[in-house]
Amino acid sequence: MLRIAHALEAQLRAALERAFPAEAAAASGDGTPLDPQLAPASQPEFGDFQANGALALARRLKQPPRVIASAIVDQLAADSSFAELCEPAQIAGPGFINLTLRPRTLAAELSTRLGDPRLGVPSAAEDPVQASSAEVLAPVIVDFSSPNIAKEMHVGHLRSTIIGDALARVLEFRGHAVLRLNHVGDWGTQFGMLITHLKQVAPEALTTADAVDLGDLVAFYRQAKARFDADEAFQATSREEVVKLQSGDPVSRRAWQLLCEQSRREFQQIYDRLDIRLSERGESFYNPYLEPVVVDLAASGLLVTDAGAQCVFLEGVTGKDGRPLPLIVRKSDGGFNYATTDLAALRYRFAVPPEGDGARRLIYVTDAGQASHFAAVFQVARRAGWVPEGGRLEHVPFGLVQGEDGKKLKTRSGDTVRLKDLLDEAVERSEADLRRRLAEEEREEDEAFIQLVATTVGIAAVKYADLSTNRITNYQFSFDRMLALAGNTAPYLLYALVRVAGIARRGGLGAGEGESAAGFPDHLVFSEPQEWALARQLLALDTVIAEVEEELLPNRLCSYLFELSQVFNRFYDQVPVLKAEEPARGSRLALCRLTADTLRLGLGLLGIPTLERM
Ligand code: ARG
Repeated sequence: MLRIAHALEAQLRAALERAFPAEAAAASGDGTPLDPQLAPASQPEFGDFQANGALALARRLKQPPRVIASAIVDQLAADSSFAELCEPAQIAGPGFINLTLRPRTLAAELSTRLGDPRLGVPSAAEDPVQASSAEVLAPVIVDFSSPNIAKEMHVGHLRSTIIGDALARVLEFRGHAVLRLNHVGDWGTQFGMLITHLKQVAPEALTTADAVDLGDLVAFYRQAKARFDADEAFQATSREEVVKLQSGDPVSRRAWQLLCEQSRREFQQIYDRLDIRLSERGESFYNPYLEPVVVDLAASGLLVTDAGAQCVFLEGVTGKDGRPLPLIVRKSDGGFNYATTDLAALRYRFAVPPEGDGARRLIYVTDAGQASHFAAVFQVARRAGWVPEGGRLEHVPFGLVQGEDGKKLKTRSGDTVRLKDLLDEAVERSEADLRRRLAEEEREEDEAFIQLVATTVGIAAVKYADLSTNRITNYQFSFDRMLALAGNTAPYLLYALVRVAGIARRGGLGAGEGESAAGFPDHLVFSEPQEWALARQLLALDTVIAEVEEELLPNRLCSYLFELSQVFNRFYDQVPVLKAEEPARGSRLALCRLTADTLRLGLGLLGIPTLERM
């Protein structure tokens, strides 16, 4: 409905200007043009849209809102292009204008979706609101996943990976150039300890690829950390090792590279299973840009030396003693930290090429625990003048992953859950569910089919369970819930898609990927309320996608798809489809086909692969 909404918006603006020419001229003179405040109707019985702008204008003009509303409605009535789209506008309540689209507007709009691979979702460049800003083609950066080298990737990284990928897919679909950056933790003091320790206990790990696996590396890292905390001599050697590494000593570099490659291979296995694409650009990339950050902060007068450390005092962020908190950018030992790296990364990402990425929107997907870190980094970057006009900085926080007991997710033996094991278990359980179902239905299927369905459903369940909850809240991990065939789950939606596509196919409107679009009716005709409800739900897809693009909440898209499958069920239960007479039959089958296409597209944007059969 985005295109229709834009048309209505323009008509409403024109009506406002005709009804109140003096006020409109004055308002656009002071840069606040009169806003019709068009929004989707708050209740279906109010129609499709409502315009609330009469109330604000009434306050300015000190006149009754209904009088204002009726002046606008009179102007709308005189506009023939409005009459094409809408039934006569209605005034409701204190002065809202309710707008109901004409049935033929809805049917025609839906017709254009048939066989359209984008299902009517405009790309941002064609979207009048966004396209007006020339930066629309400047890249958007999604910084996500970002595990740490020599450490195990944990469930927090899994959340970041799944949410970040879904957001990147939505942005890409909307036509943005998206840089998917894996800001891996591949720099800093942990390498000093690790290399020092390995030189003593497992030197082959530093000279030979594959001498140890990530599990060993994690164990070595733990030992190194314990020694670092207990042993001063070890501490000193580790620090020297970091300096060597950062100054480019070839032996240390080689060792570091081997460690990174080892971790990278393990991470890649997870990304492959989840079908995630990422460009690695780790913390080490920004090493040459750390010093300039500090120089730049000093030049802009923000840098303060406090107890030997160089820092910027934050505005509006105070500690327990009521004094402003500092963001430390250079420690008293001269070392840089996580915040310095993020400042350097941010500065690089906004900087115009070839000095940087020339991005206009930076999106960081991490756990909510890093919210104050990002707030501080963003504030300092703004004050330093590194954020270009119109540049957007967004932290996309998410809650903790908890076990079913509400505590931190742990294995039965109390260890942290390894991602590989978690994905394996999801697939194993989904396979067991499938075999049980096949036995019940007395269906024979070959092993390849069983493996494909089990893997697809298992991975889809893990992803969808994460995406469908509001990401800000903590999230309870439950295999039983995510694999259930009923409710707002991946298996339910995958199954709904198979079923709906099957109905369309039986009716001759094959909904398989790549199947031809022949046989679509020229005109869609609907008579039943269930048909209209489904048509409206289908048409809301573009609005929902635009919302996710703005608000970065994938659960909106999940709720929409779940709701769509329910509206479809009501339609299919109550209205004959395959047995209906023409022309109703063709139009109803078109609704089925569009429902299948919409479910497939939506799941694809969430990074969830779909099945033809299950
Ligand atoms: N490596 C960090 C962690 O594991 C996440 C990095 C997120 N991205 C960033 N630009 N700070 O917590």
